[in-house]
Amino acid sequence: MCGIVGYIGNQKASPILINGLIRLEYRGYDSAGISTIEKNELSIMKDKGRVKNLYQLEGIDDLTGTIGIAHTRWATHGKPAKENSHPHLDNSKTFSVVHNGIIENYNELRKFLTEHGYTFYSQTDTEVIPNLVHYYYNKDENSDSLKFLRAVKNACTDLKGSYAIEILCKDYPDNMIVTRKDSPLVIGKGENENYISSDIPAILSFTRNFYLLDDLELAVLERTQVSFYNLDLKPISKDTKTIEWNATSAEKDGYEDFMLKEIYEQPTAIRETIGAKFNEASKCEFDELNFTKDSLSNISKIYIVACGTAMHAGLVGKNAIEKLCKITTEVDVASEFRYRNPLVDSHTLCIFISQSGETADTIAALKLCKEKGAKTLAISNVIGSSITREADYSIYTHAGPEIAVASTKAYTSQVMLIVILAIYFAEILEMDTDLLNTLKKDIMELPAKIEETLKLSENILDFSKKTYQEKDIFFLGRGIDETVAKEGSLKLKEISYIHSESYPAGELKHGPIALIENDITVVSIITDPNLVEKTVSNIQEVITRGAKTLIITNQNLDENMFDLTIRIPETNPFISPILSIIPLQLFSYYISKEKGLDVDKPRNLAKSVTVE
Ligand code: M6R
Repeated sequence: MCGIVGYIGNQKASPILINGLIRLEYRGYDSAGISTIEKNELSIMKDKGRVKNLYQLEGIDDLTGTIGIAHTRWATHGKPAKENSHPHLDNSKTFSVVHNGIIENYNELRKFLTEHGYTFYSQTDTEVIPNLVHYYYNKDENSDSLKFLRAVKNACTDLKGSYAIEILCKDYPDNMIVTRKDSPLVIGKGENENYISSDIPAILSFTRNFYLLDDLELAVLERTQVSFYNLDLKPISKDTKTIEWNATSAEKDGYEDFMLKEIYEQPTAIRETIGAKFNEASKCEFDELNFTKDSLSNISKIYIVACGTAMHAGLVGKNAIEKLCKITTEVDVASEFRYRNPLVDSHTLCIFISQSGETADTIAALKLCKEKGAKTLAISNVIGSSITREADYSIYTHAGPEIAVASTKAYTSQVMLIVILAIYFAEILEMDTDLLNTLKKDIMELPAKIEETLKLSENILDFSKKTYQEKDIFFLGRGIDETVAKEGSLKLKEISYIHSESYPAGELKHGPIALIENDITVVSIITDPNLVEKTVSNIQEVITRGAKTLIITNQNLDENMFDLTIRIPETNPFISPILSIIPLQLFSYYISKEKGLDVDKPRNLAKSVTVE
């Protein structure tokens, strides 16, 4: 969580930093701050609340420094308050620091530094960093060009936990040092200027050339060059990567909110993700993968590990892999998987799904599986993200930047890609050709059907207007539709703050039906032709108890039974979640708007959860 930005060049740094912070605000919005070097002195301006509070601060326009760092915070240690806002200074005001991550041994370091005369003014874990750097800087009797770097390196050696850090030193007004461990940070290369950001989209309008820093590497940024070092301070050489996304893909482009824009971008995201993976006549291709019939036959089990929405995409993937490839597949949330000593060995393939590729628990689970000798495959939307650098194989969704905290186009693209992956495996394993060919044909028709589904928004808007004041909403489904119920329920609770539960429809009468009373809303997804009658019976049971019902279906149902039926196009059951989730994304969106909430930045949440 938290977003960091940095700039060194010949332009005024503060507008560039604020521009970057606005784009990173989705990562946290408890406070914002910047530090620049003004006439060889460090200046700090910060306040609690959103970035707009920062640019309203008196004096911010007077900053003329051409080097600076900035931060937008998602509070972990210390409440959202000015004193806990970043940047933080050391006691001598020689160093300013912004940090994303958690310093796990900060209590121990704080005690050590207090014993050495340092005073702390915040409750944050971060404040130990500038003081620790100062401690080592002061101890160093040399005063060469690497003294600042040595102090940072020594401090990092003492830090436990996760961090992406930017540091300024007033004695080195033409240098900025950055480093990272388990938290994201990219370096953008410009003409006689360089940028730092927690993610690529925030600085896409300035550059499309990026250096990717690996864990425990340090970079010294000057105006005309960036030098890289490992933790032994041995120089490392790095090439830039050019990113294909363009800057407008990270703008709202006339839409009221990023979430709405991203919902409407799904036809393109799916087209791009399908890309040239296959055509009806040929086998599915992944340039990045080299599985063979032998290597796949050697896999006895697949685990799909992810968090939140990405885990829901994994559930759809399990259905496809088990049915198409006949390989037992388990899906788990990363935060549970990593602590349950999973039965993973060299015959296991572990697939990790993460839009950002930076989710702390997913990365930790991946590292665990590698240690246990499993083959690891990452599915991410971000080229060069941490999971893609850790995994043996990486494949990418092509959803473009997803800015809204609530995931929409990333989810449908993840579902698409994992189903295509299942086809790829099934073709290598020489499974049922007819089934695979029909599915491939249905996939090619999917983008047009998404466009059709998006046209159904008006009825959903009307229903949302009748529902937005409710306290509890239930989501039901069976089979593949139950995975969509889970995702619909998560979407609703995260952006509308309405309590919601999702249940397998058949499980209702084992407890939760006790909660159904007059006028409660129950949303049901019914797309699997084999399960229609069973699900309809379950819905009948809630109608009898007074529930209002919204049905998302591609089946011919008696619409008079329900309060609203949204008829989506028919498609192959393996990919039906890509269509059936769309009305539910819109339902959550409209409810949140009716309630006057900030759809893109729901309370207490951040887009990328880079802490445990
Ligand atoms: O970046 P990731 O895909 O790893 O993120 C995982 C979850 O944090 C994310 O999907 C979260 O559940 C979304 N906010 C849901 O809309």
